[in-house]
Amino acid sequence: MQIAVLTISDRSYLGEREDLSGPATSAAARKHLGWDCTAAAIVPDDRDAIADRIRHWADKDQMPLILTTGGTGFAPRDVTPEATRDAIEREAPGLSEAVRAASMNITPHAMLSRAVAGIRGRSLIVNLPGNPKGVQEAIEILAPALPHALALLAEEPEANLRHRRTNKPQV
Ligand code: MTE
Repeated sequence: MQIAVLTISDRSYLGEREDLSGPATSAAARKHLGWDCTAAAIVPDDRDAIADRIRHWADKDQMPLILTTGGTGFAPRDVTPEATRDAIEREAPGLSEAVRAASMNITPHAMLSRAVAGIRGRSLIVNLPGNPKGVQEAIEILAPALPHALALLAEEPEANLRHRRTNKPQV
């Protein structure tokens, strides 16, 4: 499985702060899922720049999974959820709800995450927190459900139909 990782940070984009969250995301995906990051980018906290990058990876590169890190909090420049909603076609709220709920056992600040998740075409997009520790925690929480999520997204509609027909009880 190939995944794309988008770091969203004004300071990392300007080279003022080393991007630790992007590499932490890739490392956690490899550790908990065995998946490789084959595309990575850093964009500023800019709604159009974030949405454009997600659309490009989904439409042109057909990445099955796009993970973003950063920009989901309450600061005025935190616009990752709004940009993600601009790009997705269907929401997948259960993923973000699960991360927030489980993360409450780690830090009460988990309730400050406005992260969203959703689907564009055959790509799943998931917002993760901005700090490297938070990213690792979130991927560990998501890992049990992600392989099935991506298998469902990749499935041909006809194959699904055949599957249903095959399983139909004979009367
Ligand atoms: N979730 C987990 N699992 N671990 C964390 O450390 N940090 C929280 C929250 N969710 C955190 C977490 C904090 S402090 C904030 S402000 C929000 O995510 C948003 O983070 P972001 O603005 O860096 O995306």
